[in-house]
Formats: sequence, structure tokens, C-alpha cells
Amino acid sequence: MSAATPIDLTITPRDLKFNRGRAQADSNASGADSGPKRVRWWHSGDPVKTAFFNALSMTFPQGESLFIEAVRRYRDKGDATLQAQISAFIKQETLHTREHVAFNRLVEEAGYDVAAIQAYTTNRMRLARERHPLAQLAITVALEHYTAILAHGLLREPSHLEGAPAEVARLWQWHAIEEIEHKGVAFDTFVAATQEMSKARRWYIRSKAMLLISFLFWRSITRHMADFFRQDGINKVGTWMRVLKFYYITPGILRKIAREYFKFYLPGFHPWHTDDRALITDVERELLAAQSKS
Ligand SMILES: [Fe+2]
Ligand SMILES: [Fe+2]
Repeated sequence: MSAATPIDLTITPRDLKFNRGRAQADSNASGADSGPKRVRWWHSGDPVKTAFFNALSMTFPQGESLFIEAVRRYRDKGDATLQAQISAFIKQETLHTREHVAFNRLVEEAGYDVAAIQAYTTNRMRLARERHPLAQLAITVALEHYTAILAHGLLREPSHLEGAPAEVARLWQWHAIEEIEHKGVAFDTFVAATQEMSKARRWYIRSKAMLLISFLFWRSITRHMADFFRQDGINKVGTWMRVLKFYYITPGILRKIAREYFKFYLPGFHPWHTDDRALITDVERELLAAQSKS
């Protein structure tokens, strides 16, 4: 375990289930109209927000399988603490996969054909698995940084999920909590796996992976969103202007993570230089209370 990782860090897999046997619009809190597109556009009746979260979710099950493989391969390089954290990381990612598979089924039930998205993701993962195991681990480190900073944004600003059905919002909050908790695991595994390398070489490998991933990840998300828009008959300039507004102006979901994203390229970067565990406490309390009622 790295010295930067909090000594009292706990990584707790929470075996929770969401959105089972329930229509997406059932618990919608927005009070907006309930036409046929309402369930399809589960997030505030907004096709842009819905497509963004759908696109992310579509990539998770296959992506998380790759992360698990990439980290597990180097488990023996870690000390006992890191090995225990790797085990908890694997449990958390396995549960995330189960819940996003269930969520993705709802997306299909809302009428979307996701076969092309899934085939594209399968092909991307096949290409990733052809890379050197250390490159796969570096890719995982880069993507885990993305998930951690997006998770931070979701928990810090609950407005990102306002207008989503309550249980769908809870799914994303639960995932965000656990992404924050385990955000240092892939990074520390990478450090343990590259102990014999110079710091400069390590920095080069992870920075190169981040540049590559930044291109590939956003290209995938953009393609998937375009696929959803096409199926909705709205793959037009006006819709993409709304996407840019969503990313960079209101709520500015990407603008707000830009600073944390660029920190990754600093030579001494570590995910736990930002200790954001305080964000977890309140959200977790509400989450567990809601789950015990349901
Ligand atoms: Fe995850
Ligand atoms: Fe993760």
C-alpha cells in the first residue's frame, strides 16, 4: 500500500440490489409528464442526460471485468494490506457489474437496441486484452481515475441526479461511493508492479495510458450517445449542442472534473492526495435507510 493511501481506509463491498422488477418511471421524482418517451428518457425526461448515463452504464460490465483481471494479475506484488484491498476491489466491481447488467436490461426494456453498443465494447475489450498486462493495468489506473473524479462530482452535487427515478439515483450513488473508496487500489497495484522501474518510466507509462484512454473512452461514450440519439430520431446538431452545454456549461459535468483530471499528469500524483471520504458518509446513510425501507 502506498504511503499516500489513508492508513484507516476501509473498502466495504455493499451487496445491494437496485431496480428489480420495477419500471423506471415508477418512482420518478420530477413530476414531469409521463408520455411514452418518459420511461425511455428516464433522467428528467431529458434525452441528453439519459444518453450520457446510459452510455456510461453500457461500458461498465465489460470494462469492470477487464479491471478485475488487470489488478488480480499483480495481486502477489502487493503487501498484505494491498492484497486485502485488491480482494475488496474485486468484490465491489463484481457487484457493480451485476447491478449495471440489471440497469442495462431496463435500458433495453425501454425500447433501445443495444446490440451494436455491446459489440463495439466487446471488440474494444478484445483489443485491450491483446496489450501487455502492465499496459492493461495502466489503462485500469487511468479509467479508475476517471470513475473516481466522476463519482466525486456526482456525490458533491446531488443535482446531477435530480429528476432521475429514486432507485436509479441510488444505484449511481452506491457505485460512486465505492469508486471513491477503492480509487487508489489500481494505482497502488501499478506502483507495486513497477517497483523496479524508475519514477520517470512509471510516470511515462501511466501518462501515456491516460492520454490514450482519454481519446478512446470519450470516443466510445460519444458513439454510444449517437446510437441512442439515432434511435430517438434526434441525432442532430441541436442535440449535440445540448451535449456540449451539459458537459461544459450547465451543469458542466466535464468542466468541473477538468482540474482533477489534469492532476493525474503531475509526476507525484496519487489518487488519495484528494481525500474525499467525507462525501461518502451522508450519502451512504441515506442510501442504507432507503434500502432498508424497500
Ligand atoms: Fe465500478
Ligand atoms: Fe472502480
